[in-house]
Amino acid sequence: MARKDSDHQKKSMSLMFRGRAIFKPLNTGHIDERVACVREWVANIFFYTKNGITIMIDAGYNYARLQEKMGWLDIDPDAIRHILITHQDTDHVGALETDSEQLFKSATVYIGEIENRYLTGEKRRKVLHGLYRLPMVKMENRKVLLRDGEIFHIGDIKIECLLVPGHTWGHMVYLIDDEYLFTGDTIWFGADGGYSFIATLAEDNKLSVRSLEKLEQELRTRNKKLRIITGHTGWTDDLDFAFAHRTELCRPFTKKYTDPSAPYDGYIEDDDTEESARHVLLGKVKTE
Ligand SMILES: [Fe+2]
Repeated sequence: MARKDSDHQKKSMSLMFRGRAIFKPLNTGHIDERVACVREWVANIFFYTKNGITIMIDAGYNYARLQEKMGWLDIDPDAIRHILITHQDTDHVGALETDSEQLFKSATVYIGEIENRYLTGEKRRKVLHGLYRLPMVKMENRKVLLRDGEIFHIGDIKIECLLVPGHTWGHMVYLIDDEYLFTGDTIWFGADGGYSFIATLAEDNKLSVRSLEKLEQELRTRNKKLRIITGHTGWTDDLDFAFAHRTELCRPFTKKYTDPSAPYDGYIEDDDTEESARHVLLGKVKTE
């Protein structure tokens, strides 16, 4: 999606979701010594750093201020050689699209082999219960295609790929160093815990719920100190909170699914400043 289309989407989404209190993006800054993020309106891009290597998780919108905000984190776009993509929606791959600034044109992109079928045109992304077909995304980066359960390393960073289809057919979540789970758009955190992500944007909501059940079961056998980090609603280290309502869908135009702590309009980002990015740690979502 071209820059002007991204800007247009920002305006229309801002109008549509104003007052709905469903997006709770983290501001630009650090979650801890390993994980930093940039805020782009309602979306977050994450950076995971260990022993001098920084990998990026998702690529946000086609957004004019990405390089500036990465500067607040002292991360140089040229230093990003590896980018993990949870799914190919325009708020997760924008900085890779051919009509973006191409800050990362020599980086390798890692994406699920099923998700890649949207990029080849074998599948078309549909939302609003299959009624609306989104335009195809184009990118030219070198790609590595991933399978469910695959484990690989970048330097000494361990990456485990878990397929969690539903929002998109090939949505992948990434468990990094057994400790950090990047969930993209699979879980939506409300005031009282996690729900299956926004219903109107899913390819198949029943599949989303089944996938979350499988993911929870898998995680329960793992490290209990997981940090669970979402694409639009912050992070938690409380597994019970994260999966509290996983059989229920977030329905964005229903009052029940609003969170009083969410901003009135997540597209207004006046409070995202270099000062806070450099000095304030990004806390986990508040649990009731
Ligand atoms: Fe998203």
